[in-house]
Amino acid sequence: MKLELKDNRVFFENQGSKKEIHPFWLRERVIGDTFVDKKTQQRLFDPTTLQNDIKIDNLSLSDDHLEITFNDGAHTKFTIQNILKEFSNTNEVKFIEKIKWDSSLKTLNYFEFKKNFFEEEDMYKALISFYKYGFVIFKKVPTDNNFIVNFANSIGSIRRTNFGEFFNVKSKPNPNDLAYTSLPLAPHTDNPYRKPVPCIQMLHCIENEVKGGLSTLVDGYTVTEKLKKDFPSYYDILSKTKVRFQFVDNSVILEDWAEMIQLDENNEFKQVRFSPRLDFVPLEDKEKLELYYSARKKISEFYNSDQYKIEFKLQPGDLLMMDNHRLLHGRTTYNANEGKRFLQGCYIDYDSTEGKLKHLKRKFNL
Ligand SMILES: [Fe+2]
Repeated sequence: MKLELKDNRVFFENQGSKKEIHPFWLRERVIGDTFVDKKTQQRLFDPTTLQNDIKIDNLSLSDDHLEITFNDGAHTKFTIQNILKEFSNTNEVKFIEKIKWDSSLKTLNYFEFKKNFFEEEDMYKALISFYKYGFVIFKKVPTDNNFIVNFANSIGSIRRTNFGEFFNVKSKPNPNDLAYTSLPLAPHTDNPYRKPVPCIQMLHCIENEVKGGLSTLVDGYTVTEKLKKDFPSYYDILSKTKVRFQFVDNSVILEDWAEMIQLDENNEFKQVRFSPRLDFVPLEDKEKLELYYSARKKISEFYNSDQYKIEFKLQPGDLLMMDNHRLLHGRTTYNANEGKRFLQGCYIDYDSTEGKLKHLKRKFNL
C-alpha cells in the first residue's frame, strides 16, 4: 500500500489497483489544533458546512508525511501511516479468524482474574480468545456483592433484559423459565425473541456443591459449517426462513422474526438462534415445511450430539463469558438436595468488548 501524487491529486495504490482519493475525504480529515480537539480527537468544524468543490492547491509527499493546502485555505500535514491505516483491515475485530471447535477441544480458555485486570494485557489476550473461540472462562473472580455487575461494567455496560440487570440462576418455586429449575437444559441460545438479541452472556459461579449441573457449550459456527457442507438444502432453508421467536409472561410479550441461521451481507455466518420451545414457523407450502422440519431436526441432532458438545463444571469464582450469537449453552441435570448451586448472569453488547479490545491494543501498542 502506498500513496502517489499526480497533477494535484492523491492516489492510493494497493496490489496493482490505483484509486484517486477524493479531495473532500482528505479535507475532512485535516489535523492540527485548529481543526481537531487534541483530547477527544473530535472535529472542531462541521464538514457539512464546507464548500462542495474542495480541491487541492498545493501538495508534497515525503517518506512519512503528506502536506496539503486546500483551495479553501486549510493547510495540514498528514502522517502517511495514519492515512494508510484507514485502508487496512488489521484493526477490525471482524477479521479475527474464528476457530471451529467440537468436543475434541482440549484446553478451555482460562484466564486468571487479578487486580486491575481490565487494564492489563491479559485482558486483551482474553478478548482475542473470546473472538476466536466464542468463549473464555475467568478464574478466581470475587464472588461477593453481585460482582458480576462490576465485572461486566468494567468491560462495557450491562444490557438489561426482562430478567433484570443481572439474574440469579438457582432452582426456585414457580419459575418463569426452565433455567430456574434443576431440569437439564438442552443447548440453546438465550433471548432469541429480543431485538436485538443480547450479544454476550456472562455466567458467574458463586456456589456449586452438587455433583451434576455441568455447563455445556456447543459451537454454532462449527455446526452451521457442517450443515452447509453435508446438508446444503437444510442449510439453505434454515438460513432463508424467518420464524417467530416469542416469550410470554405476566407482564410482557416479546417477539422477533428471524432465521435460525442468519448470514451477513456476504452470505457468511453471522448468528444462530436455537430455542425449540420458543420458535414458530409460519404456515408455508407443505413441501417447504417438510424440508424445514427435517432441517430443524438435523440441526437439533447436531447441537445435541456428543460430537460437538463440551461439558465442564464451573467452580466458585469461575466466570464464563460466551458469545450468544455464536455458541449454544446448556447444563446437565442435578439433584438440588445435594447442596447449593448458585450462578449469576448478565448480558453485554459487542461494542463493549470491541471498544475494550481496541483500547488495550492501542495502550500496549499491539
Ligand atoms: Fe440460557
